[in-house]
Amino acid sequence: MCGIVGYTGPREAGPILLEGLKRLEYRGYDSAGIALVDESGDLFLAKKAGKLANLETEINGRTPHAALGLAHTRWATHGRPDDLNAHPHQDCSGEITVIHNGIIENFRELRDELEAAGHRLTSETDTEALAHLIEDAYEGDLADAVRAALRKVEGAYAIAVMHKREVSRLVGARLNVPLVVGRNGEESFIASDVSAILAHTNQVVFLEDGDVADVRPTGIEVTGVDGRPRSRELTTIDWTPEAAEKGGYETFMLKEIHEQPEALRQSLAGRLGRDGRISLPELEPMAAAVKAATRVELVACGTASYAAMVGASAIERWTDLPARVTVGSEFRYDPPPLDGRTLVIAVTQSGETADTIAPTRLARERGCPIVAVTNTVGSAITREADAILFLQAGPEIAVAASKTFVTQVTTLVVLAAAIARLRGTLPDDEEVGLVRALQALPSAAARALELNGPGASELARRYVNSRGFMYVGRGATYPAALEGALKLKEISYVHAEGYPAGELKHGPISLLDAECPLVAVATRSATYDKLVSNVMEGRARDARVIAVATEGDPQIERFADDVCWVPDTHEVVSPVLAIIPLQLFAYEIARARGTDVDQPRNLAKSVTVE
Ligand code: G6P
Repeated sequence: MCGIVGYTGPREAGPILLEGLKRLEYRGYDSAGIALVDESGDLFLAKKAGKLANLETEINGRTPHAALGLAHTRWATHGRPDDLNAHPHQDCSGEITVIHNGIIENFRELRDELEAAGHRLTSETDTEALAHLIEDAYEGDLADAVRAALRKVEGAYAIAVMHKREVSRLVGARLNVPLVVGRNGEESFIASDVSAILAHTNQVVFLEDGDVADVRPTGIEVTGVDGRPRSRELTTIDWTPEAAEKGGYETFMLKEIHEQPEALRQSLAGRLGRDGRISLPELEPMAAAVKAATRVELVACGTASYAAMVGASAIERWTDLPARVTVGSEFRYDPPPLDGRTLVIAVTQSGETADTIAPTRLARERGCPIVAVTNTVGSAITREADAILFLQAGPEIAVAASKTFVTQVTTLVVLAAAIARLRGTLPDDEEVGLVRALQALPSAAARALELNGPGASELARRYVNSRGFMYVGRGATYPAALEGALKLKEISYVHAEGYPAGELKHGPISLLDAECPLVAVATRSATYDKLVSNVMEGRARDARVIAVATEGDPQIERFADDVCWVPDTHEVVSPVLAIIPLQLFAYEIARARGTDVDQPRNLAKSVTVE
């Protein structure tokens, strides 16, 4: 998704902005641009399709002297990802410069009106219309002009704007797309997320929907689009810049895979009482709604939807409530019946996924009580929820999720148990057993890494030339099969399907042969024996079998060509451990194929468009 960074202050803006863009590369992008204004109002602008390195080559690695500037990485929504459509965009006079994340939905009408009034628009973007709208409204005060322009705009945006004649001022605004402002002494920053500016400050304001921020070196003022002042607090961010860097690992993804024991530890801290009980104070204000609920609807996309499946089955296991997962893009236009007794759980690590936020908003409008499960403080989903459960997994930079998957699973399982306890349906011994398993989970995850890390590249070498892979699981292990297949697809571009093992014989078994291995998530579970028979059927078709199995399983080696061992744990949280060898396998296949693991083609970390 697009990235924004802006600077105003006493230092050279160029290097700060380029470094900020580098930190935003993880969001995925297809072009980049920068604009700078010096103290005499001279403007420098450069933009280039492709990676940031192309832009750096374009400007010979040097930016001119300037203390005010904006920079952007674009992920195309309107118009091809080429030099012309790259941001920044400008008005007719070239005085106003705009960068934008999101989509202006009424841009066609706006463009037509602007062109009829004599404006010349040169790109195919929705963003350019904004620059010209601001030009029309400009009477000497940029913030006033931005507010006036935004009153005509429909859609979703985070923008940053500057004017050549206002040489130390940036104006930012947001609606349904994140934007933060950073403060540090005599300098201010603007960014699409904290990681772009964390090297310079940990004091930030998370702008809220409808905010317009007038950003100057000495401070910021926030108003609504109507010009009325809004008060916004500075938040101190405790993520160090190092936490957002690769550490000693070759990629962010590998680092994040190895951070899972620590992420689980942090995420579970405070949620497991010494008395052997679950502790979830965030849910207390919703106690009445949880007790009155008649159904649970979980909404999520991608990896988060597989974690949500684990949550749904835990809810059905421990409560009397039916629980169902619907992916956000389906929920939005074909919603289930929703009322004040439908508990909705929205799961999104970024908290900004448009396909998840829109259905959550719809559910809120229909009066549903809402719990959000997210990793991102200040994100859009947090404004839609009655209770927020933060994953506390630390920033996840690689596009493909790893540590946010495992912490989503544990957080949802804790939530399921807390719901059951509130409804009086959780047997004491179940709760005590679950808490014990959760307490042991971080070190079990560390052991799963030790068991599988060293052999992963050799395992991948044996399978790298396969035509495709069929991942299967049953019951508790099925979500891990889906997530394992998704990891392989996302980062290695090899076709993989996740299937309930019992369904193999109803169709996909025809794909199996020596070139299409089966990956069986065969950890200890109630349906283990059934799964084994399904896998035998595949093996009879010459498919090689990679099994993920529980340490000590005496029979698995009889039918698996390769076994990835993981420690035993409670069946409900078993995907947390089962996914670890599958992440490593996908990673090593991707490495062997030479793909860009952290930023796979065509994918973005947080998809803020529909
Ligand atoms: C994008 C990412 C996926 C991710 C999904 C949901 O499509 O590429 O890896 O699972 O968004 O993200 P969320 O932030 O809502 O959990």
